[in-house]
Amino acid sequence: MQRKVTKAIFPVAGLGTRFLPATKSIPKEIMTLVDRPLIQYAIDEARAAGITDFIFVTSRGKSALEDYFDSAPELEATLKEKGKDGLLRMLNETTMPSGAIAYVRQQQPRGLGHAVWCGRRLVGDEPFAVILPDDVIASEKPCLQQMVEAYEAAGSTGCMVAAMEVPHDKTSAYGILDVGDDAGPVVGVRKMVEKPRPEDAPSNLAVIGRYILPPSVMDTLNEVDPGAGGEIQLTDAIAREIDGSGVWGYRFNGQRFDCGSKAGFLQATVAFGLARDDLNGEFADYLSELSAVRDAAQ
Ligand code: UTP
Repeated sequence: MQRKVTKAIFPVAGLGTRFLPATKSIPKEIMTLVDRPLIQYAIDEARAAGITDFIFVTSRGKSALEDYFDSAPELEATLKEKGKDGLLRMLNETTMPSGAIAYVRQQQPRGLGHAVWCGRRLVGDEPFAVILPDDVIASEKPCLQQMVEAYEAAGSTGCMVAAMEVPHDKTSAYGILDVGDDAGPVVGVRKMVEKPRPEDAPSNLAVIGRYILPPSVMDTLNEVDPGAGGEIQLTDAIAREIDGSGVWGYRFNGQRFDCGSKAGFLQATVAFGLARDDLNGEFADYLSELSAVRDAAQ
């Protein structure tokens, strides 16, 4: 029988080398889109999907993440004294209930699959979600909520991975799905190929950082050999479930930003900045001016 998805793993133990030197002392997940850290978007998405247990897989140098979700008594007292109720409310929204977040350490960055496996004892024998906070998805209904609803509606006990179409010449940057003919949002997966060259790619449907997985994946992760880059790959373990509990791709509604890359992070900053009413059009005006200047110069 299917159990509800109430636990999510947030693997945040990566080195974030693409953002050096900043990530020498700042966890990538604390970097902000406008004024909210990437991890806040991930937590909000999980909460909307009904997640109640948050499992962070962290590493050395990531204590800023733990502090971020703690209460900040001095700051709260000062805001209260000054009557800044709006800011106080906003701050309170970031504090998590006691015991809702658990932290485990990944001692060495041995890959995403290994990071997920580090959360095995906290997951136990329940299905669980995995959210990569550097994949930020702008959508009306949060992506994980879309997935949990589809997973539960199908009564699934297998794996579900978020999928999106990518340009054919970019397949080598993703795990790519070989899928059946069905054109709906949920597609049966026949094969998963890690970072294929465009000529070898079975489709242009790529896996991105949202997953719903059965607990059996933890056992598989224990068995898989290191794959690409000498790392334990999550996709290798999921691929083994194709002939077991089954794997489905979920074509979500929304726009995904790869905030693990500089270009993606900048694009997200512009998109989220433009979507903010409180910037009073100032940012949009600046961008229009900028493009007018560029057009004139060409
Ligand atoms: P990335 O592939 O983006 O790696 O990991 P990274 O280390 O964060 O960044 P770069 O490539 O060096 O710039 C994808 C996700 O998997 C986590 C990361 O924290 C990120 O959320 N991860 C990766 C781990 O938790 N542990 C690992 O060993 C590897």
